[in-house]
Amino acid sequence: MNHFEVRGGELHCEDTPLSRIADAVGTPIYVYSRATLERHYLVFRDALVEAGLGDPLIAYAVKANSNVSVLRTLGNLGAGADTVSEGEIRRALAASIPPDRIVFSGVGKTRGEIAFALRTGVSEINVESEPELKLVAQVAGELGLRAPIVFRVNPDVAAGGHAKIATGKAENKFGVSFAEAARLYANASNHPHLKPLGVACHIGSQITDLAPFEAAFTRMRGLVEALRAEGLTVERLDLGGGLGVPYFNRPDPPGPAEYAAMVGRVMAGLTDVRFAFEPGRVIAANAGVLLARVVHLHERPEGRRFLVLDAAMNDLIRPAMYDAFHDIRPVRATDAIPVLCDVVGPICETGDTFTRERPLPPLNPGDVVAFMSAGAYGAAMASEYNSRPLVPEVLVDGDRFAVIRKRPTYDEMLAAETPAEWL
Ligand code: LLP
Repeated sequence: MNHFEVRGGELHCEDTPLSRIADAVGTPIYVYSRATLERHYLVFRDALVEAGLGDPLIAYAVKANSNVSVLRTLGNLGAGADTVSEGEIRRALAASIPPDRIVFSGVGKTRGEIAFALRTGVSEINVESEPELKLVAQVAGELGLRAPIVFRVNPDVAAGGHAKIATGKAENKFGVSFAEAARLYANASNHPHLKPLGVACHIGSQITDLAPFEAAFTRMRGLVEALRAEGLTVERLDLGGGLGVPYFNRPDPPGPAEYAAMVGRVMAGLTDVRFAFEPGRVIAANAGVLLARVVHLHERPEGRRFLVLDAAMNDLIRPAMYDAFHDIRPVRATDAIPVLCDVVGPICETGDTFTRERPLPPLNPGDVVAFMSAGAYGAAMASEYNSRPLVPEVLVDGDRFAVIRKRPTYDEMLAAETPAEWL
């Protein structure tokens, strides 16, 4: 459930008509609902608690939507942060998320980033490979610390909506194998600068079937038991993110309650473990939309209708990159008979196509449309390609809204560059 609905013929975010935001702040623009972010977080957390998983750490995956106001909204409810760069750790800290709720993941953490994370006192560094383990040990030694580490294990399970976002197969770059995990865990336990706390997995994103999760989590439980049988201490089990959301073109995927019940079943009887989860999309996707205005309606003589918008692939790259489907709704609702349109942006490549032959009500230049389910991996993946200023963001709370990332001016965009002195 989310807080985007038509009232009195107008698409609203909570009690705010979206047209009001488009008129006041301009388009393209991302709009997020505070109530939806909060609801999604609480539904996810409560489902896990009810499934008997204790007091899990819900480390929201910052990469899905890294705006500090979004992080603060979730952090205020007790969320932690799953981060993959120093920049994301800094964002989580800027949102007042305490270090002991911050997880640091990622396959290529640099020496500088590891040092920053250790000095910050993050809750755990999720180690993805043996070379990385060595680097963490070295940096911790230089700092005179004991690094809290969790081994990210690759459970070799196929999952995920698209090949570009599947991470849990042995052929992917993520995590160590089960055999390596056991050996590295034992070695690390005797290391003066390493403190192995547990194991982690993350098998992919937009997963709409519980079976691959269940297979992976069953293997993870087995690993915890095998490590304990060797006399090793395992106190954390991080099960990653990846639960899919409805994008309205397919049947609804399983929700948090079914997911949590499955985890509860798989983990029943496993004691003395603090569970962690790293949900991103399931919290943020349906809490945000991208608003765009129609610039032109271009009907080609062969009969194709192109709706040219002022938003482009640099603002929302998911359709171009993953063939992703986003529902497109006019913000002024109409029951006019839909016509087939190709919806495109102004960028100079054919890939800048949001959808082809989509039935949409007739729209005219100046009309505003909303790309639904755009709160995750939308603004966070935006760029300035074609020298289009980075897309701004707004957070709605009831009938009020705040610009939480402003639209840069052209001067600000150009100010980041320094012409070479010899030019
Ligand atoms: N934890 C780790 C280690 C991850 O790599 C990811 C996502 C997550 C958690 C959160 O997964 P989620 O719950 O959001 O599925 N840009 C792509 C999605 C990339 C996901 C990458 N990793 C998209 O737009 O579909």
